[in-house]
Amino acid sequence: MSEPTFPGQSGEVPEFETRDPGAREFWDERFERGFTPWDQAGVQPAFEAFAVAHPAAAVLIPGCGNAWEARWLAERGRAVRAIDFAPSAVASARAALGNFADVVEEADFYTYTPPFAPDWIFERAFLCALPKAHRPRYAQRMAALLAPGALLAGFFFIGDTPKGPPFGIARGELDALLMPYFTLLDDQPVEGSLPVFVGRERWLTWQRNGTPAAPHNAG
Ligand SMILES: C[S@@+](CC[C@H](N)C(=O)[O-])C[C@H]1O[C@@H](n2cnc3c(N)ncnc32)[C@H](O)[C@@H]1O
Repeated sequence: MSEPTFPGQSGEVPEFETRDPGAREFWDERFERGFTPWDQAGVQPAFEAFAVAHPAAAVLIPGCGNAWEARWLAERGRAVRAIDFAPSAVASARAALGNFADVVEEADFYTYTPPFAPDWIFERAFLCALPKAHRPRYAQRMAALLAPGALLAGFFFIGDTPKGPPFGIARGELDALLMPYFTLLDDQPVEGSLPVFVGRERWLTWQRNGTPAAPHNAG
């Protein structure tokens, strides 16, 4: 497994015992040692704008880390579940969420079933955290979790990287990964990215292919 390349504040990467970003121990060790250079410590304007534009959306946030976005949504009474498979990430998120701690669960994205049908799955620094070999599983699981018409939207780290995490993805490769299941609705540059993502982060909105089910007629 390649060396992790997320640099710290001063550009250095500490020595870690775990090397496999597909294992929860990898992320657990980094959260335990307070090494989270991907952490925005708040929500980005593009997230806020999208959330405001989709006020009724029930949101699932996989690989949530400190779950800033879940907190933003929960504080506004929105339906949200955030999951992470690293116990120390979940503990950190729950501590910050206070009264809303229950919206964060310790779970593996590939096997988790949310308590609601998500209208929107929010992506941030999750795909780029996964080993490249996991990408087909990521796309399949996203497709399985979202009904026709539902959205996969968030920040994607574009551009191939020789090693990682973060593992950037070439734009053509991302399209080939998602287009069997999704149609791209929007593609925007991102302002205010952290140094590790700057210039290579795009806000993408993908819609699950297929015809949405007709609403129930209660009468
Ligand atoms: C780079 S961090 C990003 C955290 C957060 N999304 C953010 O933007 O700050 C990636 C997170 O994904 C989590 N993760 C990786 N694989 C996972 C899986 N299969 N299921 C759930 N969480 C996973 C890790 O534990 C880690 O917290």
